[in-house]
Amino acid sequence: MSTDAKNAIAQMEKIVSLCKRRGFIFQSSEIYGGCGGVWDYGPLGAELKRNLRNVWWNTMTREREDVLGLDASILMNPAIWKASGHVDTFADLMRECSLTNKRVRADHVEPQDGVVMNYSGAKSPTGWKLARPISVLMKKGEHIESLRKRVRTLIASNAGEAAGKVEEIELLDEAKGDTLERTIDFHPETGGALGDARPFNLMLKTYLGPTATEADVTYLRPETAQAIFAQFKNVYDSSRMKVPFGIGQIGKAFRNEVTPKNFTFRSREFEQMELEFFIKPDEAVEIISGKVDTWSEGADLSEPKPNWGWQMWHRYWVDQRTKFYEGIGLGDVLEYYWQTPEDLAHYARACVDILCEFPFGTEELEGIAARGDFDLSAHQTASTKSQEIFDEELKTAAAKLTAEQKDALRARKQEEGRNTVKKKAEKERREPTADDFAAMEKSMNYFCDRLFAGNYVPHVIEPSAGLDRMALAVIAKAFSETEKVDEKGKKEIITVLRLHPRVAPIKVGVFPLLKNKPELVAKAREVYALLKKHMNCFYDETASIGRRYARQDEAGTPFGVTIDFETCGEKGPELADTVTLRHRDSGEQERVKITDLLGKLLPLVS
Ligand code: GAP
Repeated sequence: MSTDAKNAIAQMEKIVSLCKRRGFIFQSSEIYGGCGGVWDYGPLGAELKRNLRNVWWNTMTREREDVLGLDASILMNPAIWKASGHVDTFADLMRECSLTNKRVRADHVEPQDGVVMNYSGAKSPTGWKLARPISVLMKKGEHIESLRKRVRTLIASNAGEAAGKVEEIELLDEAKGDTLERTIDFHPETGGALGDARPFNLMLKTYLGPTATEADVTYLRPETAQAIFAQFKNVYDSSRMKVPFGIGQIGKAFRNEVTPKNFTFRSREFEQMELEFFIKPDEAVEIISGKVDTWSEGADLSEPKPNWGWQMWHRYWVDQRTKFYEGIGLGDVLEYYWQTPEDLAHYARACVDILCEFPFGTEELEGIAARGDFDLSAHQTASTKSQEIFDEELKTAAAKLTAEQKDALRARKQEEGRNTVKKKAEKERREPTADDFAAMEKSMNYFCDRLFAGNYVPHVIEPSAGLDRMALAVIAKAFSETEKVDEKGKKEIITVLRLHPRVAPIKVGVFPLLKNKPELVAKAREVYALLKKHMNCFYDETASIGRRYARQDEAGTPFGVTIDFETCGEKGPELADTVTLRHRDSGEQERVKITDLLGKLLPLVS
């Protein structure tokens, strides 16, 4: 293992340990040995998540005039997941180990070198038999005895008690096979030969209703987005919003991830913060504004414009989301991956992944996709309920178009449609049929007819972020260690969590200098009572003041307020009712009047 990989593991271990020690994140069901890919947030973690949620909610909905919120249920009619494509295509390709039935994601098998060892089967003195051939990769440098022991152990753990003692299992008809280089056909952990790749659906199934038959099957939602699409018309009709506008939602999502990993990064239960921002199709913008503004390097994204096409809206949301991350202290650890046409899902016109530097590598934090009208159209078709909206401005503008202008637009859409048919057929490795072209022509004519009458199914830009990943990203970015020498000359490693004040679970620690001085304690309690109505504070009177500062540094608390003898006026009236305000990151300490404290702190933490 490379030094970088070892350092990354060590760094993650320290972060996981801090999260447990300070009550940020615990393993779920820990007293029963845990529950794979599921995590619980302790007192500090719960506050951190709440702060992140609030920053997202406020930035994305309350502070905007064009976005509304939604809080939909986790369980929905399973028809939603059929229409969205999740039932048929939300799957990872998996391969199964022929030795242990352990599954691995097909794209997660690293190439390996070694020699294939074949056996016709195995038996044991208990009478147990394995009557099928076994192929195992003896990895480069592995001793044959070590391989045999490994195979016996794996067989025994799969067979259970029937196989008897591991050392008494006999492997039959051992034969050396091919020497392979960079093979991806053996399980990375067990070495057993892998079967063909098969899709494994990631949705978690459950039953709705008491009979628990197949007819009652539904799913725990694998994303929050679909509820937004399913409720689009209700929100639109009840809010009198006009397109462009968005609907945001925060909530739990569930995926039966095959290999949950990297702490909370890939979990089976997690929270998403998703915005579906509905825009006019470019053709509607063109009719209304005469011309569609498309993206060019350096274009002004500060304020949305009526002539923006989908490209500008997509870039705008990438820019907005970048500013969001800057606002929570992640600005300098972001990277962007613009998906190539080969990466894109069939319905997406563009997608950018916002990546973040984690100890285990640079990984996706959020995806921002331009999804066209795929989702609303899919629900329109499946539910047979119209998802079109009527746009008066469009109808008025379309009425002014000449017949030639309408024909030109129709011809362009027909041409686009023909290209789509060809591309789809090419992807499916077949020739496009006359029926394909006829169906597309009909659909394009229908689109144009509806458009000229002022109707369309809105298109969508979707910034989709994971709350748990965001929490992990801010913790990993904030984690720092420094070496300190104490009064007795002893060196110790001090951990400081440099969390941005907006997201820090505790904003201020309030400390009386000494706990046996009633006047200090009373004043400190007064200050605590004053602040806690406005922000999460922590009152601490135990241990030395240095120790108390260190405890709060480790919890990520950005400010400390100490009430000392000056506060009580013992060092002159000019210092009475002032406190020491300590800034965690700079170590700076300043004297502040109690009456000025709130005014000083509030803008820093909100
Ligand atoms: N509606 C689009 C959608 O769900 P996604 O890329 O599958 O897109 C969006 O998920 C975000 O949700 C990801 O960028 C990530 O932050 C988060 N996410 C997805 N799967 C996750 C998992 N297993 N554990 C934690 N977060 C996850």
